[in-house]
Amino acid sequence: MLKTLSIAALSLALIPALSMATDAGTLQKGEKLYKSACIACHSTGAANAPKLGSKDAWAPIIARGMDEMVSVATNGKGAMPARGGTKADDESLRAAIEYMVSRVK
Ligand code: HEC
Repeated sequence: MLKTLSIAALSLALIPALSMATDAGTLQKGEKLYKSACIACHSTGAANAPKLGSKDAWAPIIARGMDEMVSVATNGKGAMPARGGTKADDESLRAAIEYMVSRVK
């Protein structure tokens, strides 16, 4: 009985991980950069930054596509500093964006 329950709980926990579009390593890398830099503005929505997890804020941005998001984040726009004010390489920057997109639900 107990064993059945824990197997059920385990498979439930695995479902979201398996259905994730971006691989876990990329998201982990992105989360690290996000937490070291992007969080300053994107956790609170300071200076009108699209807030982490906010569907309203992110939906129109995501609709323009990943390439456009990468371009804006790389070059900066308004109060969004180029590369979020970091020296992050292209791959890490993209990973941070993928992490932020993955948190929109
Ligand atoms: C100093 C505050 C600040 C920091 C730090 C910051 N952002 Fe932003 N970010 C903004 C603001 C403000 C906007 C909205 C820009 C606009 O549309 O005028 C924005 C917009 C964006 C967008 C949407 C781009 C689009 O296509 O419209 C992405 C993606 C993004 N930031 C990624 C990041 C990443 C990744 C980091 C960390 C490496 C980061 N930001 C750090 C303020 C910041």
